[in-house]
Amino acid sequence: MQSTDTPEAAHPGMDVITRPSELIQTYLETSIDWSLLPDNLAEAAKYGTLGSGKRLRPVLVILSCEAAGGRAEDALPAAAALELVHCFSLIHDDLPALDDDSLRRGRPTLHVHAGEPMAILAGDLLLAMAFGELTRMNMTPEQITSLVNELATGTRDMVVGQVYDTLGGLPEEQTPLEQLQLVHKNKTGALLRAACRMGAICASSDQSTLETLSRYGETVGLMFQVVDDLLDVTQSTEHVGKATGKDSALGKRTYPGLLGIEGSRQVVTDLMEQACNALETLGPSGKPLGDLCSFMAVRTR
Ligand code: IPE
Ligand code: IPE
Ligand code: MG
Ligand code: MG
Ligand code: MG
Repeated sequence: MQSTDTPEAAHPGMDVITRPSELIQTYLETSIDWSLLPDNLAEAAKYGTLGSGKRLRPVLVILSCEAAGGRAEDALPAAAALELVHCFSLIHDDLPALDDDSLRRGRPTLHVHAGEPMAILAGDLLLAMAFGELTRMNMTPEQITSLVNELATGTRDMVVGQVYDTLGGLPEEQTPLEQLQLVHKNKTGALLRAACRMGAICASSDQSTLETLSRYGETVGLMFQVVDDLLDVTQSTEHVGKATGKDSALGKRTYPGLLGIEGSRQVVTDLMEQACNALETLGPSGKPLGDLCSFMAVRTR
């Protein structure tokens, strides 16, 4: 997945990512029935889903499920559901009406590849397919209801965050830092938090484990977007596979914009420690999630 010249190549987090990300890649390629769609829509939907994504949200679902005592195989449809929502969010995020980006995952964005109407519709489709995946789970009706609720809440909050990010509407009484946190917790943190909670639900975890994983997911979720903001100002387009240096040009609220690069790096370190501390009550079963979190803090793409 990564070349050998980056900090992530030699990171212990890579060991914990490889197995679940391969599981989810295979699931997306072979267990989703793309053939039910007209060819042009199937091509667009697959283009938007099966590229070189890092698959970190489904990896979080699987590792959270295992940390709570469950099996990766049981969590796969939920993990796929999360990735489908994520891919839908990227397709729409890149549209001319939002971030107007032409490069994603190292190749043309879907609207450049297949046209804007198809990109809009393929995004709509992936969202519906995500919820369809949850009906395929070998779980109790109560568990499936909880999974639907988590995915719906995470998706709703992601959309709220995208509205704050693109159109404003933030609470005016808040400080700039509080507003920025609110944008990032919603547009990105909500789906990462949902990933961890859905993993716990797949494992039929107890309430305290669910709360632990939820706290971890919330913190990692905010950290993830602070790192994304940093990559926009520190990395090349070729390296990350999407346009960089764009956030300030688009007038986005970002951590480097508010706190500078060093200040933002300190926030990442603090959030990473906070997320790892949250895992302490899980003991050794929380170790893979700790490794994943420290990997996410140093990733360069
Ligand atoms: C990009 O997410 C969008 C954000 C929420 C920052 P990723 O960096 O996980 O993108 P992929 O899935 O690996 O392409
Ligand atoms: C995207 O945030 C959040 C989503 C809900 C997709 P960004 O706009 O910063 O993500 P990138 O940098 O385009 O991947
Ligand atoms: Mg955006
Ligand atoms: Mg964007
Ligand atoms: Mg970004």
